[in-house]
Amino acid sequence: HPHIHYANGQLHVEGTAVAQLAQQHGTPLFVYSKASMLAALAAYQKGFAGRNAQICYAMKANSSLAVLQLFAKAGCGFDIVSGGELARVLAAGGDASKIIFSGVGKTRAEMREALRVGIGCFNVESEAEIDVLNEVAVSVGTQARISIRVNPNVDPKTHPYISTGLKGNKFGVAHERTLATYQRAAALPGLQVVGIDCHIGSQITEETPYLDAMDRMLDLVESIEAAGIPIHHIDFGGGLGINYNGDTPPAADALWAKLLAKLDARGFGQRQLMIEPGRSLVGNAGICVTEVLYMKPGEQKSFCIVDAAMNDLPRPAMYQAFHGIVPLDGAKLATPGSEVFDVVGPVCESGDWIGHDRALNVQAGDQLAVLSAGAYCMSMASNYNSRAKAAEVLVDGDHSHLIRARDTLADQMRGEKLL
Ligand code: LLP
Repeated sequence: HPHIHYANGQLHVEGTAVAQLAQQHGTPLFVYSKASMLAALAAYQKGFAGRNAQICYAMKANSSLAVLQLFAKAGCGFDIVSGGELARVLAAGGDASKIIFSGVGKTRAEMREALRVGIGCFNVESEAEIDVLNEVAVSVGTQARISIRVNPNVDPKTHPYISTGLKGNKFGVAHERTLATYQRAAALPGLQVVGIDCHIGSQITEETPYLDAMDRMLDLVESIEAAGIPIHHIDFGGGLGINYNGDTPPAADALWAKLLAKLDARGFGQRQLMIEPGRSLVGNAGICVTEVLYMKPGEQKSFCIVDAAMNDLPRPAMYQAFHGIVPLDGAKLATPGSEVFDVVGPVCESGDWIGHDRALNVQAGDQLAVLSAGAYCMSMASNYNSRAKAAEVLVDGDHSHLIRARDTLADQMRGEKLL
């Protein structure tokens, strides 16, 4: 990885030694590379060069204000899924008109707030939501710009918990219902149909599901427009995977070269495009630094107990996800004879593991980096076991910025009252 690498035997994020950050801020500590985030964005920008395209960062992947600010400054819009995310984008200086609002359960209050600040588009996910959004828009005397999220029913070949474009999922409107739903929306006074949207899943590492989904989307655009409803933009969602453990997803620019060729061939090359990438912009830009508390050898299993846990890194517990784990000190990298350990946290659950059967050459007091921790880690973190949420640092060359202080005990108890 160009931005997270060993130099002089020590793990560095860009030009900054990670051990020094851990010393300064304590552990567990998330460390992100600014250059890595911007490089991931540049791959999409390169793929869209000369095209009419808007990249809307799916901020659920990492919603820290400084990360949002970075992407806002780089020209991104945002894909949001709650009023909380809307407030964060605005607090980070994001442009409301470049916000798209996804999600199956938008409340009336969230709709009103999004209309008040003038977001770009609602990605509507059901016929019932169409009626409610229309009612809310009429009640405040405006029109809501909408796309309908359609379910292209392609298999993204990813973990079932993160595949979203199949018929049995709660997301989007069924392919067969799409035209009727568009006709219904187009007839309502509070709605202005502007686009079409899909999102087929996450951590997708093959290009075929994308190519199939694009064909199915374009079939729909043709039939909707034939019915007299113009579709100004095509939002193709997010979902491009990253390399966690030898995964080989297509590069963003290479994937889009193929998708754009398809759009061109079918006469949609000039149509405005939107995408909603999350993980692929931030996932491999971050690590979580953790300290080994105890080595606990056993007859059946040996454990390496660290100070990060499932409340900081929920992906292994939730999806059996793999994250690489390496020592900060390159001299302690595992060698062929190294023993294997389950790397686990202090939380009182057997599901609290970070890595299974990892060859390690470390002892108590050593520090490890959990890799690919820039996406869906801090944004999914909790205070379970009354553990403090970790601190976050953004590295920019040899400078580092503390972008989130570690939770204090007062932070954890804020808003609570004794009887
Ligand atoms: N757009 C919509 C409507 C989404 O639901 C999502 C993610 C994205 C865009 C961004 O997808 P991405 O480019 O990040 O794949 N917590 C899980 C992933 C859940 C994804 C949810 N939706 C994990 O840690 O793997």
